[in-house]
Amino acid sequence: MKTRVTELLGIKYPIIQAPMGPIAVPRLVAAVSNAGGLGVLASGRLAPDDIREDIRAIREQTDRPFGVNLTAGTPGYERIAEVLLDEQVPLICHGRGNPKRLIEQAGGRGTRIMAMIGTARHAVRAEQDGADIVAVAGMEAGGHVSYIGTIVSLPLVAARVNIPVVAAGGFCDGRGLLAALALGAEGVVMGTRFAVTQESGMPLNIKQKYVESTEADTVITDAITGTRLRVLRNRLTDDLEGKGRGLSWRERISGALQTRRTLGVSWWQFLAGGFRMRREYEASFSELGSLAAAAVRVDRAFVQGDADFGAMPGGQVCGRIDDIPTAAEIIERTVAEAGAILESLGQKMYLQEG
Ligand SMILES: Cc1cc2nc3c(=O)[nH]c(=O)nc-3n(C[C@H](O)[C@H](O)[C@H](O)COP(=O)(O)O)c2cc1C
Repeated sequence: MKTRVTELLGIKYPIIQAPMGPIAVPRLVAAVSNAGGLGVLASGRLAPDDIREDIRAIREQTDRPFGVNLTAGTPGYERIAEVLLDEQVPLICHGRGNPKRLIEQAGGRGTRIMAMIGTARHAVRAEQDGADIVAVAGMEAGGHVSYIGTIVSLPLVAARVNIPVVAAGGFCDGRGLLAALALGAEGVVMGTRFAVTQESGMPLNIKQKYVESTEADTVITDAITGTRLRVLRNRLTDDLEGKGRGLSWRERISGALQTRRTLGVSWWQFLAGGFRMRREYEASFSELGSLAAAAVRVDRAFVQGDADFGAMPGGQVCGRIDDIPTAAEIIERTVAEAGAILESLGQKMYLQEG
């Protein structure tokens, strides 16, 4: 299977594992990369030294390419960018914020940049900024979502940029991979599917919760992070919906304090980062507080195993997930299924013509 994405990244199959909070641990990243896809470490809530340690742990388990995500503009983000460039990470994924300087620094060091965006307008800007690949996440996706579904946004983006596009949101198998290729993508990003694998860092009871959930068991809410987040419905989302407001101020402030400690930044760096995020994300301090509090709620689910009051980002695709295989099994199944469907499609179209 060859696309511009496999060529650019030096991987066998155009299947990328999405960066995911505290669960995209080195073991998962290495398992995906060893199986011919590309694993991505989530660095959002790690201090620079922890990220370096995780990168080295990945390299001990695989010699294949992998990626790390980076949220541009967060407190202490420059030090994290330095670690990623210094370690010559093969791919950096970034979401919100302004990554222009990072892209300039990465150029010439062999590090590729993948911009994760939600709309065609943002894709065009990412290309202008110098990104190598653009990942389009449709509204089916787990985590932060746009308003447009993958089936509409993907061909729109593919028509407007020259760099390769990969599709995110709703993918879990070969059928989806083939559909993404037909819609103009050159690969897929899978989040929820790889979250529910043997190697993912999720506690077993939370993995089972995803397996039991149907496609109708997720909600999009702005009550957790302040912007549209797709999560599994639970007592937390019901409570917040019932009250018609977000996480409490007390929780936001303690979340912010905990984030400072986790990131290992000084008060000065923390405040400077806060002001920069406010400008680059066009977000209020109240929203930034929600983001910090949300991270603590995600840890409550993914570290402590609390399925009732933790926040569990998850896509509608959990309705199509009914097992907990290894990451390698997912990749093998996806590739085999895509091949089989491609053949059967050829026959279907031939029969219709006849
Ligand atoms: C459990 C989970 C955690 C996530 N955490 C993050 C994150 O920390 N940072 C991020 O940029 N995206 C995060 N996302 C979003 C994914 O990167 C990706 O866009 C999404 O999972 C794709 O949709 P899918 O879940 O339908 O495959 C998360 C998604 C899931 C399912």
